[in-house]
Amino acid sequence: MPTTTKRKRKTEKRSRFTAATADRHVLYQLAVQDVETEIDFVDETFKELRGRHAVTLREDFCGTANTACEWVRRRSSNVAVGVDLDGETLAWGREHNIEALKPAQRSRVTLLERDVRDPGPKGRNVDCVLAMNFSYWILDTREALREYFESVRKSLVAGGILFLDFYGGYESMKETKETRPLDGFDYVWDQASYDPITGNMKCHIHFKFPDGSKMNRAFSYTWRLWTLAEIRELLAEAGFARSTVYWEEGEDDDDVEYKPRERGDADPAFICYIVAEK
Ligand SMILES: C[S@@+](CC[C@H](N)C(=O)[O-])C[C@H]1O[C@@H](n2cnc3c(N)ncnc32)[C@H](O)[C@@H]1O
Repeated sequence: MPTTTKRKRKTEKRSRFTAATADRHVLYQLAVQDVETEIDFVDETFKELRGRHAVTLREDFCGTANTACEWVRRRSSNVAVGVDLDGETLAWGREHNIEALKPAQRSRVTLLERDVRDPGPKGRNVDCVLAMNFSYWILDTREALREYFESVRKSLVAGGILFLDFYGGYESMKETKETRPLDGFDYVWDQASYDPITGNMKCHIHFKFPDGSKMNRAFSYTWRLWTLAEIRELLAEAGFARSTVYWEEGEDDDDVEYKPRERGDADPAFICYIVAEK
């Protein structure tokens, strides 16, 4: 994911990694995700908009279900459902993230090995749905993305909210590699190819280690680089009553806040959230 991705608040202390010993899911969670900050945003925004706390959260494209686990840690009433097609990644999440929860927290997480467009009865009647780290861009036609948004809207309770993140700016279209040094390894975000006719893009995540070893293409994505305007149009077509862009405010990396905005800035690369209300 691009390095402008939601700032990590803390630096984790880790011993040295090597390509032979490191686990790609551990590295992904350290390099890409900041589930505490993400859940802060979701929890606070839902409360502001609805005057109550959300209780049930569905994490779509959940992978290792790291965010779902953070949700159930937050409050003893919170319940989470994670949905992903990939049984192997879900199994890793069960073994490492769900097992690490306290028993009472564990009992409030359910993982579903399903397509997000057909979450089934256990994925319905939720207060909020999250599709983060641009995973929904895998749906690369208007029909597929609208179908997904329609299915999410039907899964939400009255007044439910869909939270999406978004990466844009002219650098998002560039074929480029960016290396970010982290504690014990380097994270490389590789925008390998971009086709301006179809909007399709191929990206990879690589990891490099202090001993010179590399984990090439630890993760690869083929997705469509959507625009904010297209996504908001599709949300409206899918029946969402309102969608609002929350733009990053604040100069200091440790003090970033996302605020509703009507107009954005032509930043070279930016991350924002889209909050879609049923
Ligand atoms: C980039 S990972 C996202 C991990 C995590 N949500 C995050 O925020 O970092 C994308 C995940 O989407 C899953 N996926 C792709 N298409 C899907 C679909 N149609 N339904 C459910 N999961 C899907 C993949 O198996 C993969 O685990």
